[in-house]
Amino acid sequence: MKINVGVFFGGVSCEHEISCLSANQVMNALNRDKYNVIPVYISKNSDFYTGEALFDLANYADLDKLCTTCEKIVLYKDGNTVYLKAVNGMFKKAQNIDVAYLSMHGTNGEDGAIQGMMEMLKLPYTSSDVLGSAVGQDKAVMKQIFECEGIPMVDHFYFYCHDFDKDVEGYKKKAKKIGYPLICKPANLGSSVGIEIIHNEDEFVDKIHEAMQYDFKLVIERMITNLKEVNISVMGSIFEARTSAIEEVMKNDELLSYKDKYLGGSKSGKTKMPSKPVKGSKGMASTSRKVPADITEKQQKLIEETALKIFKVLNASGVVRIDFMIDKDTEEVYANEINSIPGSLAFYLWKEKGIEFDEECDIMIDEALKRYRKKEKKTYSFDTNILKNYGRK
Ligand SMILES: Nc1ncnc2c1ncn2[C@@H]1O[C@H](COP(=O)(O)OP(=O)(O)O)[C@@H](O)[C@H]1O
Ligand SMILES: [Mg+2]
Repeated sequence: MKINVGVFFGGVSCEHEISCLSANQVMNALNRDKYNVIPVYISKNSDFYTGEALFDLANYADLDKLCTTCEKIVLYKDGNTVYLKAVNGMFKKAQNIDVAYLSMHGTNGEDGAIQGMMEMLKLPYTSSDVLGSAVGQDKAVMKQIFECEGIPMVDHFYFYCHDFDKDVEGYKKKAKKIGYPLICKPANLGSSVGIEIIHNEDEFVDKIHEAMQYDFKLVIERMITNLKEVNISVMGSIFEARTSAIEEVMKNDELLSYKDKYLGGSKSGKTKMPSKPVKGSKGMASTSRKVPADITEKQQKLIEETALKIFKVLNASGVVRIDFMIDKDTEEVYANEINSIPGSLAFYLWKEKGIEFDEECDIMIDEALKRYRKKEKKTYSFDTNILKNYGRK
């Protein structure tokens, strides 16, 4: 019997459009002999939709119009089955789904929010669980955990925005101790949104106020001025995981920007994104990259070992991408961040290891089902009812 896969995408995140592209790549790649594919689009307003129109990227130019051609739905659980049901009752039959393929990035998609919804529904879902997703998304908490595990990172500190104006001089001192230039990052965003370079103390307060628009918490860290950015992907579960090839990413500006990542770095920003990972293509992100990265054997070993450690510490699952920075002046390697649902599943790194994109999608679903079964075997409650004597006369 075929497995009914609900592919969830969109959402409130600033990576909404990227998520739509990733989801269409996945829906095209999923083997129809094995799976019935049911798209579940989440609008920027957090409404859920399904419909045939969601299979064609050409319909995404006008998202409001796209919603009008789809069915607004709710998810509900009946017995052990999860269903999609049209809000207006137009569906003849509710559609059951066996597994949720989460093709979402950033806020609500990669931060444990939708993962929590899946846990409540008892629906198996791809990628990391609530904790792994949440920790991976919050750069401040992630760094605290990395620190405990001895994972190498650049010097940094974080603060809540509402505390900043109470002790500007104190934060200036912390910044000076690390040394300029510094990078200021909203703790919970992605795709370089809201990131500021602080070149010197004169810019400190203004740049921080600028970044405060994006989050409640900011991370300040040493800027590596002579930077080599290298990424690696890890696949599997905490029980068994393996590493991909390592890529070196090239940037056009001081920072690897949203434009570099998704628009091929063109100054006009008009470079077209390919709709699916095709043979020989550079992937959804048309960032220029070198695979394998130009690094020493020692650096490669350190990156592979650290990536596996991070994957396990964060209780990750499926396919993640872990980004590292190398200071070319000292050749030191630093962990930067984990992307628990990387765009295009970093397919170009797995291709180097002989794994095609459709196989990666299969692995994602297998891991989701395996984790669900393992969790089902654990005991979460005792067969007692301490309330049964309440109310007795
Ligand atoms: N400490 C740093 N030194 C130099 N460049 C950095 C540093 N941290 C981040 N960057 C640059 O900014 C980009 C975005 O930062 P990152 O931490 O990866 O956040 P995001 O979640 O937005 O991708 C990186 O890809 C890199 O180009
Ligand atoms: Mg990044």
